[in-house]
Amino acid sequence: GAPVKVNISKLVDGQMIRVEWRGKPVWIVRRSKAVLQQLTTHDNQLRDPDSDEPQQPNYAQNAYRSLKPEIFLAVGICTHLGCSPTYLPNSFSDQVSGIAAGFFCPCHGSTFDMAGRVFAGVPAPLNLVVPPHQFLNDDTILIG
Ligand code: FES
Repeated sequence: GAPVKVNISKLVDGQMIRVEWRGKPVWIVRRSKAVLQQLTTHDNQLRDPDSDEPQQPNYAQNAYRSLKPEIFLAVGICTHLGCSPTYLPNSFSDQVSGIAAGFFCPCHGSTFDMAGRVFAGVPAPLNLVVPPHQFLNDDTILIG
């Protein structure tokens, strides 16, 4: 599949853009400072907080799982059986208490934080996949 170019100049805090790459949904989310701060508070609730599992580019093996802290990309497919999780920017705490925003898979209840890291004790075995990508400039991402 061809690489996909995405302009993110209009993306505001909390907003998600969905694009298609190789027939898969890819999410691009701009994370606020508050969301970034919250990523550091719950490592002990996660299955693989450091993303040691090898299913992502090495630049995703950091606390934010991204090239730039505020811009998060993930393939929007649950690592359990392939449903597409729902982005809950404001009501994720209904699923995981104390955490404001995240992704919830309605099929079997897997939960992921705002870096796509899977919580312990849910069916999904792995963190969400970060697709290969690069910034062509501040406003333009090339996926693939
Ligand atoms: Fe997402 Fe099963 S497919 S929890």
